[in-house]
Amino acid sequence: MTAILPHGGTLVQRVAHGEERDVILKQADTLSKISVNAWSISDLDLIGVGAFSPLQGFLNELDYKSVISTMRLSNGTVWSIPVTLAVDEDTAASLVVGEKAALVGEEDGVIYGVIDVESIYQVDQQVEAVQVFKTDDPEHPGVKKLFERSAIYVGGPIQVLNRPQPARFGEFYFDPAETREQFRAKGWNTVVGFQTRNPVHRAHEYIQKSAMEIVDALFLNPLVGETKSDDVPANVRMKSYLTLLENYYPEDRTFLGVFPAAMRYAGPREAIFHAIVRKNYGCTHFIVGRDHAGVGDYYGTYEAQEIFRNFTAEELDITPLFFEHSFFCTTCGNMASSKTCPHPKENHLTLSGTKVRGLLREGLCPPPEFTRPEVAQVLIEGMKEQITV
Ligand code: ADX
Repeated sequence: MTAILPHGGTLVQRVAHGEERDVILKQADTLSKISVNAWSISDLDLIGVGAFSPLQGFLNELDYKSVISTMRLSNGTVWSIPVTLAVDEDTAASLVVGEKAALVGEEDGVIYGVIDVESIYQVDQQVEAVQVFKTDDPEHPGVKKLFERSAIYVGGPIQVLNRPQPARFGEFYFDPAETREQFRAKGWNTVVGFQTRNPVHRAHEYIQKSAMEIVDALFLNPLVGETKSDDVPANVRMKSYLTLLENYYPEDRTFLGVFPAAMRYAGPREAIFHAIVRKNYGCTHFIVGRDHAGVGDYYGTYEAQEIFRNFTAEELDITPLFFEHSFFCTTCGNMASSKTCPHPKENHLTLSGTKVRGLLREGLCPPPEFTRPEVAQVLIEGMKEQITV
């Protein structure tokens, strides 16, 4: 059995160990410092363990320009999301191209890594917003984040010296090398990856299980990095996933592991990014449903699927599985989509996220055709905890 190759052919490994780490750590004390927030620490770590292969570091100017305008690195490899490191003016002035700088946690002072400063460059964030998010509306959560950052970026290869430690659910953190090994050990030739930033409702379950009919296993890979404040918190979601898997999924065909990245809300471009990263984790297939990684009305329902047409199957080398908007049809008596159900809209049960959150906040379960009762219970408890905090 040959495992699917990482993007670019090799799984990047930039976590320093042992003596090498000691030497760099000692050296780091004397270097210029760049203060890094939780988001950048997560990017740094994901680059270090190869989840963002073939990236060896934060994008330099050449790659940045190429990514935002062509969705490719300067060497032509497909890459749709700029993974960049922003620094303020004073920090930028303290850096020298060709030298290393230490990446220091802004909250805890931990030296998370070092960067070989390859380029220091000023960007036009308005242009970046329009290219990446297709809007420069500051109400868009991804654009808002972008505009809050400095417009000076530092690019270059990194090395990780200290790994961020998960506060909870540590047992569900796996590096790409580990998931690859797990999938191999389980004898799975084909694995479908599923990205989510939400609890798994019946529509998610339906598309996951439809995919599971044609592959060996499901890698449920919820994103647990930074999300916008009205998304359900990761710890509550984790409990809901565990409950769902325990009650409704075959243990020998499912694997739960978190994706500790920040959510960009970049819709179509993020779908490409999500697929590539899941390939790095060892998936052969990736689910893209309706409005993948979207927010509000910024993207068309199927734009995140259509964007895949820009690339050949060979250059992506992970098979996207596209699903139409799914719902419970009261006449069919089961989950369906417009591909499988002939009945009118009135027969389709669809609830908005706002409506569902409203019900849960009042301690009411959404209909079982929408959310499994066990999952709803976990979410209701989670909401209560949040309210009392
Ligand atoms: S996302 O921002 O992480 O994409 P979400 O957790 O809602 O959001 O979606 C996870 C995956 O399920 C995405 O691929 C999305 O397109 C898909 N999806 C969500 N709801 C539906 C639905 N009702 N029908 C079809 N696909 C869906």
